[in-house]
Amino acid sequence: MSIAEQLNKEKLPKHVAVIMDGNGRWARKRGSARIFGHKNGVKAVREITTAAAEIGINYLTLYAFSTENWSRPQNEINALMSLLVSTIASETKTLMKNDVKLSFIGCIENLPLKVQEELIACTKQTSQNKRLNLILALNYSSRWEITKAIKTIAQDICDNKIDTADINDQLICKYLETKNIPDPELLIRTSGEKRLSNFLLWQIAYAELYFSEVLWPDFRKENFYEALWDFQNRERRFGKTSDQLILNK
Ligand code: IPE
Ligand code: IPE
Ligand code: MG
Repeated sequence: MSIAEQLNKEKLPKHVAVIMDGNGRWARKRGSARIFGHKNGVKAVREITTAAAEIGINYLTLYAFSTENWSRPQNEINALMSLLVSTIASETKTLMKNDVKLSFIGCIENLPLKVQEELIACTKQTSQNKRLNLILALNYSSRWEITKAIKTIAQDICDNKIDTADINDQLICKYLETKNIPDPELLIRTSGEKRLSNFLLWQIAYAELYFSEVLWPDFRKENFYEALWDFQNRERRFGKTSDQLILNK
């Protein structure tokens, strides 16, 4: 039996977040420019999006460009932006066919106009799709998101829209980019790096972390199913003891 067949469909995470890492190293291993790795990374995006839709994941968030990535060489940034434009344009048909709704988190106003236009056109066209919510994190970082939320909360207090006493976990969630999106239960990072790189720090408070040695352009459905399998075999205690969980079964 394949791993996919062994997965318990009742125990899948609703939301999986992925730090797609290792494109540059993948290209270097082949003596090619970094952008060659990014181009091949698109294949993995297509494959994992399809796998997530097929197996019944509701939300898939992919970290595509961080606020820190502006520090990369300008030619790599330009190539990444062009790749985004061409990929969104060419993949819209597949998203429609697979019933996938595209949205984004991050400060897209600072992205080139062409990227913004393609992104908005695709989110509009796919807005009625139901099978999977695909969320691209673009020009995103957690500290940017949390700082923005704090500023808006402070402004809403000044404007008497909310009271300081109203601030709690749920209220803060409503001020984040991910409002209306459940927290990820599983975070995957590829390429063997074991850090969070400013990604969804608030939202992954209780997520299971899964680190794969595979470089992102090589990441395939089977690797994704392995991560889901690993997730299903963990005990999620949320502060309780193991005995309590067994008793409540
Ligand atoms: C991830 O791959 C893609 C982006 C950050 C856009 P990298 O480009 O970070 O690849 P490595 O880490 O240099 O191998
Ligand atoms: C994180 O990857 C950002 C994305 C995957 C888009 P990086 O490769 O940029 O992260 P660091 O800088 O090595 O932590
Ligand atoms: Mg990297």
